Amino acid sequence: MADSTYSVEETRPVFYIGEHESKRPSPVTAELVHHAQDLGYDMLTTPITNDNFHSRVLSLLSSYTHATEGSAQAQPLPLIPALENVDTPLVPDHLISQLVAFTSSWIDLGSSDPVIAHLSRQVFHLEIAYAAFCGVVNVVVPGPRAANGTNGIAQYARAIKEALSTGAYIQLHVLMPVDFSKASEEDDLGDLARFVRPEFAQATSQQAPSSFAAWDAWNTIRTVCKYNSRLSVALDLPRRLPSLSLQSRWYSEPIRLLILSARAFIPNEKGSSVLHKTLQLFIMRCMRLKSTPWVLLADIGPIPGVEDPDALFEYNGGYLSPAAAADAPSPGSSVTAAPTPAEAAQIAKKAGKKSSSDPTPYLSYLRYMQRNQPTATQLERFGDNFQDYLQSPLQPLADNLESITYEVFEKDPIKYAWYEEAIARALEDWRGQQKSTSSEDGAVVIAVVGSGRGPLVTRALNASQRTGVPVRVYAIEKNPNAYVVLLGHNRTIWGGQVTVVKTDMRAWKGPVKADGTSGNVDILVSELLGSFADNELSPECLDGVQHVLNPDHGISIPSSYTAHMTPIATPKLYADVLSRATHGGDTHAFEIPWVVMFSQFDFLSIQPDQSQIAAQLSDGRKMKDFDLNPPLEPLIYTAWEFTHPQPPTVLAQSSLRRGGSAVGGGGGFLGGDGANEHNFRHCKVTYPIQEQGVCHGLAGYFETVLYSGSQGSVELSTNPITMDAKSKDMISWFPIFFPLKAPIHLPSNSELEVSMWRQTDDRKVWYEWLVEAFTTVGGQRIRLGVSDLHSSKSNGCLM
Ligand SMILES: C[S@@+](CC[C@H](N)C(=O)[O-])C[C@H]1O[C@@H](n2cnc3c(N)ncnc32)[C@H](O)[C@@H]1O
Repeated sequence: MADSTYSVEETRPVFYIGEHESKRPSPVTAELVHHAQDLGYDMLTTPITNDNFHSRVLSLLSSYTHATEGSAQAQPLPLIPALENVDTPLVPDHLISQLVAFTSSWIDLGSSDPVIAHLSRQVFHLEIAYAAFCGVVNVVVPGPRAANGTNGIAQYARAIKEALSTGAYIQLHVLMPVDFSKASEEDDLGDLARFVRPEFAQATSQQAPSSFAAWDAWNTIRTVCKYNSRLSVALDLPRRLPSLSLQSRWYSEPIRLLILSARAFIPNEKGSSVLHKTLQLFIMRCMRLKSTPWVLLADIGPIPGVEDPDALFEYNGGYLSPAAAADAPSPGSSVTAAPTPAEAAQIAKKAGKKSSSDPTPYLSYLRYMQRNQPTATQLERFGDNFQDYLQSPLQPLADNLESITYEVFEKDPIKYAWYEEAIARALEDWRGQQKSTSSEDGAVVIAVVGSGRGPLVTRALNASQRTGVPVRVYAIEKNPNAYVVLLGHNRTIWGGQVTVVKTDMRAWKGPVKADGTSGNVDILVSELLGSFADNELSPECLDGVQHVLNPDHGISIPSSYTAHMTPIATPKLYADVLSRATHGGDTHAFEIPWVVMFSQFDFLSIQPDQSQIAAQLSDGRKMKDFDLNPPLEPLIYTAWEFTHPQPPTVLAQSSLRRGGSAVGGGGGFLGGDGANEHNFRHCKVTYPIQEQGVCHGLAGYFETVLYSGSQGSVELSTNPITMDAKSKDMISWFPIFFPLKAPIHLPSNSELEVSMWRQTDDRKVWYEWLVEAFTTVGGQRIRLGVSDLHSSKSNGCLM
């Protein structure tokens, strides 16, 4: 059960939009900031140093080169003198908090030439130190050069790590292209990379970088920086977004800024600048993240009216006519197709001269997107503020839940309705099959075991009323506080029809008959399921109460449940667990299956057929109707199943083992008598991994068959593949996350084998999990890595 507070309010994220000029001609003043705000911008960017400083570094390099040319004497590496006030537009004033600062793009931290690398490192250090001194919080750092290939990444990553300690409060955003082939590296005359000495020049690779190369570079940087929470991505969005798998990978990363340059926009029929549908969808998804990224409109021309302080402009606020906001025609109409520059020029020509007098058309379009965000789903509204928030799983057996927790459960719009349906169908079948009942007056005896505050009791009574099948209802609850509420409900709501018993269900002897002996129950109704089905000990509790069930035709609702799982990449959750384990004093953080509403993550193993997912990009859908779920369907495999009632022989053997008699075997493998070993489970499943990635853990879900009878089955599911079909909008459970202490790197076309165990020693139940990565080279299967054997024993569920 997810311990959450339900909120019905729908709040749409506000887009926080800034303006960036890579060659801003003059320093950002208070007037400029106010002017930009009047136009609807939320922030501006500034370089940390200016052209003066750049020239100074270039002349230093030039003098050094002259000094070393032909000189036999070794020269010390060139040293950049301290910054002077003429070198920087920044001053430590009140404006600082509204500015995002950029470090210089003309350095090359990953250069193979030691002189260039040394100069670059000094420039970077001076800039970070001065920005930190001024109180800048957000600094964008141009990412590693695509031209350096994988060579300079380690050196670049090290420099970033250094910067994180130089500016102890600075948030660093590494400016990354989605794909290196889409990188727009400027060929600036003053770029230090141009001065690499021939002996250090790298042979340009004949091979085009893989589409995941930019992501791989970022992954290396943050791995070297140990998933530092002050390090994130500024993602430079191209006009055409590459594959959905690369998009979902970036989506799972800590994106702080989305950079949209004029090049990312395309003209529509009216000549207005709009974004391609793939970009609209990606941005809409990102805006649903808990930390909504900011958008920087980059190099879209000077801020209008800067030259003329008296000019009057109207802030559009995103109210665009349908024609102005219409999608651009997509020649070729493939999912990722957008017009090429030549096509775009044609369209623009066809559309004639732009009629709009909008001073900030790009900004207006983004505000239009803000106004047209898709409405949140039930689950999103319920889970608002709980995205990627780690919760310890509840232990309703060992602990007594609070009233507020029951109240949250009871708000589920689906679960109780489906239980009522299941009970009603079971009652109709009971009558249809003319089965005898366990009561003296022919009523079907129902026991709601673990009734909490009684919602399922109400549903059982409703089902009887709906079907006209008479019932006798027992409410069994071990929580003494919930018992008080049940007694009250019986008086005020149920008209005294219910027998409320305060007991652990395993100790209940059954309904007391007129002669004082204990009778049977026909239908056992329970809801003891956790996020991974059996993790709140439903199997153990139901085994313990099965002795009261009518042995001939008693039924259990639910009749079965299955646990499901799939490997995921989730840098955010990994960083969270890591920080709990290292700084938070929670040494077992990696050994806990956490309950969490996944948000910023990526499925690593996906279904081969994804055709219908992309449909929304080509079916003429408007942006406000987008489905923001992960765009690729994962492969989610079943770990194991429990069915109820258990075969009597299984329980008979269990009771033989209890007490440790010789005929009960040699005791449990892990301690105890082994009486609960029939509830041990193990599975090993292999997931194909299509794209390279890093596995941070496993996402776990469940499905349950409440009742399957003559009218089909009634089921609940949190499994993303089946949830919509089985119990859409159910909100009672968030998934579960089994973390990995050390993330496992996976190349494309590899395999991940997952082993999972449900262990028990008669006193508790816990999980153990381990993953192994394999690849096949030349027909031979090679093991790439194996994780620790993780175990939640120290946080096990007490029986
Ligand atoms: C997940 S809650 C469900 C409550 C309620 N049926 C509902 O749907 O809102 C599980 C309930 O079962 C109770 N419970 C768990 N194990 C039990 C046991 N062995 N005997 C009796 N009650 C138990 C807990 O105290 C809790 O009230």
